[in-house]
Amino acid sequence: MTESRFMRGVLLTSVAAMALTTHAVAEGFPEEKSLSGLEYELIGRDDIYTYGSLDSYSEAPFLTELVNAGALPAVADRLPAEPLIFKTGVMVDGIGEYGGVFRHVIGGRPEGWNWMAGQHQGWGGINMAVQECLVRQGPRWQVRGDDQTGPLPNLARSWEWNDDHTEVTLSLMEGVKWSDGDAFDTEDVRFWWEDNVQDANVASRMAAGSFGGADTKMDVIDDYTFKFTFTAPQSETILEGLAYIQGCPGPSHILKAAHPTYNADASYESYTSAQPSDELSPVVLGAWVPVVHRPDELVVLRRNPYYFKVDESGQQLPYFNEMHFRLSTWGDRTTQTVAGTGDFSNMEDPANYVQALQQSQSDDSPVRAAFGPRVLGWRMDLNFDIGNAPDDYSTALRELFRETDFRLALSHGLDRDAIGQAVARGPFAHPYTGGFQTGSPYFDADATAYQEFDQDAANSVLDGLGLADSDGDGVRNLVGGDDIVIDVQFKSSRNEDRKQLDAMASQLAEIGIRLQVRAIDETNFDAVTAGGSFDAKFERINFILPTFETCKSLPAGDACPLFNKSGDRMPFEQEIANAYDAFVASGDAAEKAKAARSIQTLITENAYTIGTVQFPAALLINKRVRNAHPGTPVFMYEWAEDGVIRERLWTAADQQETELLPGTVAEY
Ligand code: GLA
Repeated sequence: MTESRFMRGVLLTSVAAMALTTHAVAEGFPEEKSLSGLEYELIGRDDIYTYGSLDSYSEAPFLTELVNAGALPAVADRLPAEPLIFKTGVMVDGIGEYGGVFRHVIGGRPEGWNWMAGQHQGWGGINMAVQECLVRQGPRWQVRGDDQTGPLPNLARSWEWNDDHTEVTLSLMEGVKWSDGDAFDTEDVRFWWEDNVQDANVASRMAAGSFGGADTKMDVIDDYTFKFTFTAPQSETILEGLAYIQGCPGPSHILKAAHPTYNADASYESYTSAQPSDELSPVVLGAWVPVVHRPDELVVLRRNPYYFKVDESGQQLPYFNEMHFRLSTWGDRTTQTVAGTGDFSNMEDPANYVQALQQSQSDDSPVRAAFGPRVLGWRMDLNFDIGNAPDDYSTALRELFRETDFRLALSHGLDRDAIGQAVARGPFAHPYTGGFQTGSPYFDADATAYQEFDQDAANSVLDGLGLADSDGDGVRNLVGGDDIVIDVQFKSSRNEDRKQLDAMASQLAEIGIRLQVRAIDETNFDAVTAGGSFDAKFERINFILPTFETCKSLPAGDACPLFNKSGDRMPFEQEIANAYDAFVASGDAAEKAKAARSIQTLITENAYTIGTVQFPAALLINKRVRNAHPGTPVFMYEWAEDGVIRERLWTAADQQETELLPGTVAEY
């Protein structure tokens, strides 16, 4: 197995931890067959980049022309005194050449540019092109196990803990500038924390109270130093929460004017949509700035002349001048990348796997394809939040959802092999239990409970709960009440989700439960589910790391998970919360593995979430793109768009695609 060197370290940890617990509940869970055949070198965490000053700096030639014309300050004045420097030694193709276009195709549509208020930019790597975060997770897939000591630095270049690990003081890079030239400093961090994360009226991606508890404090020390104080000791792990998509400040010098705390005429609604997707250009820290948005067609981004990263020869990054996001479908991302009209795809639409793989095998194929571990997993989340139920029926349904036996019956009612084959024929699908996916460093089969397809078991449990079909219409009734009809929301753009739900609906009908499947536009899906207004939702959720989009999966903080927002926890759910706290607080690998095993067992034996199937995914990258490190997983610590380090990718001048807007940068 490829990821062996990485996995081996992790496996040793799990073996060490195994003696500490007694769970062995994986009976019936089929053995994992890896499709991955990748080989790659693992490196030290400090091998990838550092911070420092170089003798001189250079820039994309067209920027020099803008400097000469008086439209921009000199490159040395745009860069921080000590920029972030990517090291040449670990670049597979070395220092790059400027110019050209990196072409993405995505199925999402930008919701808006105010990401601090929870808005997304369309996914598929566009969010990550504009946002820069306090720390970084993506490149960690390449770091050796013994050097996996927490997130990599980014805007926060270093941090120090006090002796009992209740305080961490972070130092920002000094002299970083926003894409309009304004200084980035702790006022931006304070605004992000106080007026977005901590303000319960803002649907920030980091939920209030989810970063070390409700009483975590943040203090600004000076322009470039700030401190978090926790009520209990923490470890490096907690800082993973400051990576994409949670710890990414927005421009306070722009957004304060739109926030109700600073502007009496503003509302929280107007604040959230203060930067509509069709108003360009937003002020960003990312390597590229959106300059054109043609709805349902294309978003064009141009290089950010103030970007704070360089290579060792002093060339300001990124290498690509332009980035495109063609607004199409997720399936088309793979089709276009295979055809060579797109440059990148996380191949995650299993229905296309066989054909895409066949086409990418030939020598003249424009694309390279490599399978990684199994990290795509789909699950149904039932809403346990009675407090916010909209009506009596939802209240009764949610009360039923809180019965562990009911959830176990649903899980036993699913024929996961058939669900997998409904998505794609062939060897790709594997059953999924709803906990960590098998590609996760924290997956442990021995800590995983598995409910096999067993309609008799399901029926007798449902009978035992008194859920008879009292009106004889083939659907069981709530005790003394209506038919059990579960309204399940999913993203209309996701074909794999629809296929699975169709299979699930007919399977569950056989045990007298009706699923009513409801398609929601992908652009609004997160806002709808973050608001808690659903009885059930079905989506692909990559549960690989407990600290990744935590509030989607775990009871961390009072308003988490999103499927139990009122904080009225079931007893086992409180145990999951405790295990999560232990995971985050401990710096000891064996203790962490033990906490992760508890999380896994508690989730799976209680059918906390109802998993269906998991698939491996392959990364497709056009062969003319250099520095895309072989072995980059579609998802590990973060999605491949971050893991592949796009600011370091380049194409030789004679292979570059023609830029749509040569010679230009965003204007403000
Ligand atoms: C979407 C896509 C993923 C990945 C992420 C990045 O979820 O389905 O493959 O590109 O966006 O945010």
